[in-house]
This record gives sequence, structure tokens and C-alpha cells, in this order.
Amino acid sequence: MSRISDHPVDPIFTTRWSPRSFTGEPVPDAVLQSAFEAARWAPSASNAQPWRFLVARSGDAAWDGFLELLMAKNRLWAARASALILILSARQLERGGTVVDNSSHSFDAGAAWTNFAHQALLLGWHTHGIGGFDRAAARTRLAIPYDYEIEAFVALGRKGDLADLDPQFHAAEAPSGRRPLSETVFAGTLGTLAFTEEWNAA
Ligand SMILES: Cc1cc2nc3c(=O)[nH]c(=O)nc-3n(C[C@H](O)[C@H](O)[C@H](O)COP(=O)(O)O)c2cc1C
Repeated sequence: MSRISDHPVDPIFTTRWSPRSFTGEPVPDAVLQSAFEAARWAPSASNAQPWRFLVARSGDAAWDGFLELLMAKNRLWAARASALILILSARQLERGGTVVDNSSHSFDAGAAWTNFAHQALLLGWHTHGIGGFDRAAARTRLAIPYDYEIEAFVALGRKGDLADLDPQFHAAEAPSGRRPLSETVFAGTLGTLAFTEEWNAA
């Protein structure tokens, strides 16, 4: 499966997509370490690196507890992932010896997660972000202090066969498209085209 970009980009950006069919096979530590290492090098305000990752590997002591936090529909497919990662971000940072609010903690955690996803893909593993879970239960059961935002889960696994995926997800099991840049990039103010019509249609 491939996606055609409107303008030239490295294939890593169009080949990353979020399947729901996973094999459930164990993920080697080397893969997780490499993906977390890529996340580690993401940019962040004041180099605060506000991201934190809680990881459960399929079948380990934390696995069932992580799965139980997911909305039932997400649990149906995520149960066959190889790892579930809960992404947190520290709301505050230290600047000049003072603890201050970090207005970009979520933004920076987002940058880290895409590094993670792309590095995993380069190693042959897919990721799928999950926002559908019980945040309040996650905070309580995993003892997450309030100075950490609970951002999202990520399922990581090797792409599996469609036959192993619940039929309700079959129709959506394909890379999605994107709206055009002309509806995303603006010159100075929202709604003002940044480029010529010819460029937008290129
Ligand atoms: C923060 C976040 C939350 C998401 N939550 C869910 C979810 O709860 N369930 C689900 O099936 N997919 C979820 N997704 C997957 C998105 O729907 C998917 O990334 C989007 O449709 C774009 O498709 P692609 O990743 O295949 O390019 C989530 C993705 C992100 C980044």
C-alpha cells in the first residue's frame, strides 16, 4: 500500500500509518530501545524533555492493567499488539532554579511520539495512537501524579493478517489520506492562501 504525496517528501512520512491488525509477537528490547532513543532526541522547549513513557509488553505484569484502561472497541484490536505505551508529559519545568509552568509540554510530547513512530517503522514495526481510554482510571491505577499530563496510549506491533482482525475494523484497515496543504497552510491569517493555485494543485 502506498500513498501519493502532493509534494516531494521522504517515503517515511507516507508509509507510516496506523493499522489495527497486529501479530501479537514479542517485541525485542532492541526495537523498543531504538524507538525510545529516537523519541529522546526530539526537540523541546528549554530542552526540558517533558515526555515520559510507561511501557507494557504483551503478557507482562502490567499488560492486562493497560488493556483494561482502553475503551472496549480499542481493546478488541490492541490486545494483539506487542506493546502498549502510555505517554505522559511533565506540566512544569525548572528554569534558573525555579519551577515554572511549561506551556508546550503536550506539544513536545507529540514531537517525541512521532520520532518514536517513525523509528519503529524503520525497523519494521507499526504504531497506532490511542486516545480512547479512561484517563481518570489510568491516573489512579498507575499512580500518576497530577503534575503529569496523561497524553495518549500507543500500540506497537508487527502488522498482522486481516483475518485475525475483528471484521468491524476491516473496511478501515488501509492508509488514510490527508486534506490538501491549501486548507492547512495560510499566509499570515487563517484563510489566506500561502501559495498560488498552481502550487496548491501541483
Ligand atoms: C492522539 C491519538 C489518538 C488516537 N486515538 C485513537 C483511538 O482511540 N482509536 C483508534 O482506533 N485510533 C486512534 N488514533 C488513530 C488515528 O485515527 C489515526 O492516526 C488517524 O486516522 C490517521 O491515520 P494514520 O495514522 O493511519 O495515518 C489516534 C491517533 C492519535 C495520534
